[in-house]
Amino acid sequence: MLFRGGQTITSSGLSPAAVRVAGTTISEVGSDLNPQPGETVVDATGRWLLPGAIDGHTHFGMPLAGGLSSLDWAASSTAALLGGTTTVIDFANPDAGESLSAAVGRWRNLADGHTLCDYGLHVTVTDTSPERLAEIPGLISAGLPTFKGFLAYKNRLMLTLEQMRSLMTAVHEHGGMLLVHAEDGEMNAAAEHVLLNTGRTAPVWHPLAHPAESELKAVGEVLALAAETHCPLTIVHLSLTDSVDALKRARQTAGESATLIGEVCLHHLFADEGLYSSGHETALAAICSPPLRPAANGPGLLAELAAGNLDFLSTDHCEFCLAAKAAAAAGGFAGVPNGCGGVGERLVMSYTKAVVTGDLSLPRWQEVLCERPAALLGLADRKGRLSPGCDADIVLFDPTPEYRWDPLGASDRAGSLWAGLMVRGRVSDVWLRGRQVVAGGRVTDDRAGGVFLPRQL
Ligand code: URP
Ligand code: ZN
Ligand code: ZN
Repeated sequence: MLFRGGQTITSSGLSPAAVRVAGTTISEVGSDLNPQPGETVVDATGRWLLPGAIDGHTHFGMPLAGGLSSLDWAASSTAALLGGTTTVIDFANPDAGESLSAAVGRWRNLADGHTLCDYGLHVTVTDTSPERLAEIPGLISAGLPTFKGFLAYKNRLMLTLEQMRSLMTAVHEHGGMLLVHAEDGEMNAAAEHVLLNTGRTAPVWHPLAHPAESELKAVGEVLALAAETHCPLTIVHLSLTDSVDALKRARQTAGESATLIGEVCLHHLFADEGLYSSGHETALAAICSPPLRPAANGPGLLAELAAGNLDFLSTDHCEFCLAAKAAAAAGGFAGVPNGCGGVGERLVMSYTKAVVTGDLSLPRWQEVLCERPAALLGLADRKGRLSPGCDADIVLFDPTPEYRWDPLGASDRAGSLWAGLMVRGRVSDVWLRGRQVVAGGRVTDDRAGGVFLPRQL
């Protein structure tokens, strides 16, 4: 199969290029490829050929206490493909007392046979007993080299600094990387306690239970632990420019050999805390951690992403039905599951709000959506690039249309912070490992053909 007539994004901008696919992988890329006898030709005239995008941080079908879960793998991966994302890296979260490998098995059961896009798994660690830490080398060998630890969510997922140190030591020793949710759970719990005890229980108060100082304290602490343990670290969903400053200072002190990565998420770039005072339902949809921040913060984060100080752009996609969030809000914001949607919006929203505006160059846009997450999270050999040998995950993107964003059609999707916004550009067609899965903006193959991707750092 030969894609011709379109343009690809190179380090210097757009250039005419053809891409040849043999079976499930890319076999040739060049400016002057001609069709071979009998070869299928895809006419990409007027469109850009992008590598299938990688979202390094999602929570599809995440079960929570009380039988609630975020939208399932079928719905979430459909949104991903329609939005040009062909690979996600989700999180396997063990229940209390459950082994890490059992949690991975449970997540594989949720995803396999249901996901339309490919996926990998990070493994959350909430128990740092010797028995649990002993699982780390086996998981790394099985293609799960990235782990997540929380300094947030007291009495649920939070690790103490001592536990975080043990985890980082073990992950470093075996060649993995740790992803950290950096908010101070004690500080958040104290703020929440004051709010609830003074009757401030509505969703509008959620961000006050997650003060900026809490993120800054946790970022400082985890950077200090990384310096001490030498554990490769990604701080996920950094939401404050002050946090990025702390990361930059730590990089300077640590030098080139240290791995200190910063992730930013779509909603922290392009949505702001004004949504919490824009009506009950909007406030509910915007409940996430870290919360949306003051409007001035987003452009600062975007500038850091453009400058290379933030490394890749994810979504932390964790979307709940509005009805579920509303029911959980009956007892106050503290009971509302945290998370927003974005996996379907990431490409088009970032194009509209960062590339069209001139804040992010085209090559950097492609890098932070595709090549960097693949390279940093262990998929460099097969995802994130239009290069011979890589999986034939190909997106045709039409940069011209302007229209009002409709949250991908599903009526019960609460998490769209983006519904109704004017956008530029459309994902028209998508191929996953050489198989067309989206044509003309519609899913054409819903066989749930996504596969688990073992990763290696
Ligand atoms: O609000 C969020 N971020 N929900 C998902 C869980 C997490 O903290 O990443
Ligand atoms: Zn998190
Ligand atoms: Zn998350």
